[in-house]
Amino acid sequence: MKRRNMVRAVAVTAAAPALAATAGRASAAVRPKSDPLAFDPDAYTTLTATIPTDEGEKTVTYRFHRAVTYVARPVDAAYQSLNVSVPVAVDGRPVDASRAPILFSNAVGGYMPSSTAGATGVTLNRPNPPLALAAGYVVVEPGARGRTLVAADGTYYGTAPAAIVDLKAAVRYLRHNAGRIPGDTERIVATGVSAGGALTSLLGATADDPAYEPYLREIGAADTSDAVFGAAPYCPITDLEHADMAYEWNWGTNPLPGGGRADPALSAELRALFAEYQASLRLDGRRGFGRLTARGYDTYLTRTYLEPSATAHLAALTADGRAAYLAANPWITWKRDKASFTWDDYLTHVGTRKKNVPSFDLLDLSSPENNLFGTGTVKARHFTEWSLRRATGDDRARLDADLPAKLRLMNPMPFLRQGNPHRARHWFIRVGAKDTDTSLTVVGNLAAALENLGDDVDTAFYWDGGHGVNLDAPDFVAWIGRTCAR
Ligand code: DHB
Repeated sequence: MKRRNMVRAVAVTAAAPALAATAGRASAAVRPKSDPLAFDPDAYTTLTATIPTDEGEKTVTYRFHRAVTYVARPVDAAYQSLNVSVPVAVDGRPVDASRAPILFSNAVGGYMPSSTAGATGVTLNRPNPPLALAAGYVVVEPGARGRTLVAADGTYYGTAPAAIVDLKAAVRYLRHNAGRIPGDTERIVATGVSAGGALTSLLGATADDPAYEPYLREIGAADTSDAVFGAAPYCPITDLEHADMAYEWNWGTNPLPGGGRADPALSAELRALFAEYQASLRLDGRRGFGRLTARGYDTYLTRTYLEPSATAHLAALTADGRAAYLAANPWITWKRDKASFTWDDYLTHVGTRKKNVPSFDLLDLSSPENNLFGTGTVKARHFTEWSLRRATGDDRARLDADLPAKLRLMNPMPFLRQGNPHRARHWFIRVGAKDTDTSLTVVGNLAAALENLGDDVDTAFYWDGGHGVNLDAPDFVAWIGRTCAR
């Protein structure tokens, strides 16, 4: 192994797709025939990247393992493959990443398919992967099937639960290769944004649950644990079957982008359903707040997340910058270095809601989520009784029989309610305070469920941040270091 290592280590080069391809072909030949899921540590291209960090630019030399298929029976290897980036030197100083934390960063957006097969190196246009690499961590970037993939016979093969099954298979692949693959496979920290944040929440919450087993077996996933040590969802679009009701609770009175209000009767119906759902969760707020109900959730979000977020933002400004911000936002009271305001003023500040009513299970079946819950040759389906009944006019219509189980496989909340003992115990959760892609209660409930279980949860809202923002990547990288040192 060592000898081949020397042979295969190619000259340092910024972009070497041709060499990567050569390495990929050669690796198949040396893979032990008995184990189709053995990682070949020698199949890499050596690359360099210049990465801006808080401590200035760093030049990172790293080994790039491209398009490694992580299941034995791929449905579509273009998606069921991962890239591994292993730092070997930072600014010329050698780095030993053999026991380093592994950042497991998916790039799924919109529940679309995600392929890393064409990548020519570590992802540089998102903050977390390059910063993690510069910190000396291994970066794994998995692809996954997504909702729009259609086979020649018209079958949709990337709808739920394909993406989470694939990401679990990718985690299993890493653990299966412990010792062969650089990095500590017991210190995997998953991350992703939006739909990718939802999948990250699922990786953390549903680890090793037997409900996924038949799907994992079908694609030839490694027979080992898919647990991750930490999970860092950014603006997770999750708890989808309750997202319409939660949205109306949160943004029901905010104006639509083109002006005007969403249908108030529909909004009120959904909002009422949210109260029932929220009560059924039986979650308690932080620091003795008591039960989280629809009635008290505005106060809870304001005190627990929004005011501290505004406070952090304002405290980081210069005195002049702060004075200007406060002059432009007289609804914020700044006293004793703390921001305070009312929920209603905050809603006005956010302005337009991104989605109409209902916002996820659309009556015309045109949302990403309608497609996510398609099946076979059916591109899109209803996944809430509310929308199904309203769209069909049939008050007794029932969801297709396979849907309740699939909805569960796509929702972290039931697994947390059951206290899944294999779940990630360390969580870093972020969302923009102006993100109207879903209700802020989605993050509120996820964080509360974890806190109620006694897990280590670092949650923050980015003040004035919209959907998908990441404003503290260096803090996340430091958090990984601290957390994984345990
Ligand atoms: C994403 C955004 C959405 O508003 C949504 O409903 C699903 C996914 C995304 O950005 O991934």
